[in-house]
Amino acid sequence: MAYYRRAGHLPPKRHTQHRRPDGGLYYEELMGEEGFSSDSSLLYHHFIPSAITEAAPWDLPDQELRANHPLLPRHFKTQDLFDENTAKAADTVTGRRLLLGNDDVRLSYSAAAQPSPLYRNATGDECVYVESGEATVETVFGTLTARQGDYVLLPRTTTHRWVPTGNGVLRTYIIEANSHIAPPRRYLSKYGQLLEHAPFCERDLHGPEELLLESGTDVEVLVKHRGPQGCVTGTRYVYSHHPFDVVGWDGCLYPHTFNIADFEPITGRIHQPPPAHQVFEGAGFVICNFVPRKVDYHPQAIPMPYYHSNVDSDEVMFYAGGDYEARKGSGIGQGSVSLHPGGHAHGPQPGAYERSVGTEFFDELAVMVDTFRPLRLGEAAAAGEAEGYAWSWAAGEAS
Ligand SMILES: [Fe+2]
Repeated sequence: MAYYRRAGHLPPKRHTQHRRPDGGLYYEELMGEEGFSSDSSLLYHHFIPSAITEAAPWDLPDQELRANHPLLPRHFKTQDLFDENTAKAADTVTGRRLLLGNDDVRLSYSAAAQPSPLYRNATGDECVYVESGEATVETVFGTLTARQGDYVLLPRTTTHRWVPTGNGVLRTYIIEANSHIAPPRRYLSKYGQLLEHAPFCERDLHGPEELLLESGTDVEVLVKHRGPQGCVTGTRYVYSHHPFDVVGWDGCLYPHTFNIADFEPITGRIHQPPPAHQVFEGAGFVICNFVPRKVDYHPQAIPMPYYHSNVDSDEVMFYAGGDYEARKGSGIGQGSVSLHPGGHAHGPQPGAYERSVGTEFFDELAVMVDTFRPLRLGEAAAAGEAEGYAWSWAAGEAS
């Protein structure tokens, strides 16, 4: 994200001496993408950022995936994945449960009330959508405040931890890429500024508010990283000093938040296709969101989407709020996830198409991930699957 930001104390010239009050040198770290050829930031550490004293395997939550076979549209209820006691004891990193995944992206859900361990994801960027609750996300760049509706974007290898705040449980829908997550290329100028036709701009992005300095020795950090044969695996490091020791940083790569309420919907006289709702993209997938909006105003418009066979994609919707008219009668509600795989034409539930004629406003809130390679089913998909969704169109049609 080419949007420069700086915090704390920096030397006037990069790669030059930056001295502590006692005369010693701070240690400069470049955190950069694509082999020094893309966005980066420079961070100045009190201690050497490489100083580990132990490494041991970290067993990730169940990462097994099985094929969606026979090929079915499916409905998963994240509402059923965590009871209250489980959520109160869980954290947003080790407690996440894998719904769907492929070699490009993994989709998980978490309900948690405990602070997470220090963690970084070295397989790719994370985009964490906050369904409800609030948290402070403590990072090596400083603190972020996360609230309902926020996408929290954490660049690959950002050391951080989730600390739920307030009284409630923090519910999050987690999109883990094996690549980087950024605004669509078509929203950006050739130098990376968000363009006038983009549905959001730099003012809507919120970086770390203040630096975070912590002291301590022998500090654990959990690292998710690439394993053999394309697998994801984990390692637990012990650092000799606390990694939150940055006295200053600057650059264009840092964690930030974007609230879904700041997405300005693009509407038209006739139906706008999902790319009009796109917010981010990664390698092999896109992220779109459907927000409350005025709908199609052609006098003969059908505001409800047409049935569509998006032949190259699997489509996953996370229903985050509002009243999702297209799915009425299917059992889908707040917190549900639907999977509409390539090879099956999908669209509104019976009756919704007709009811939409004359409608002027949709009160809906959903986050959609479309993948270009087939998704497989994780353990949370099996645990949370609602029976009968695949047959709901035929069932409604017959009644
Ligand atoms: Fe669709």
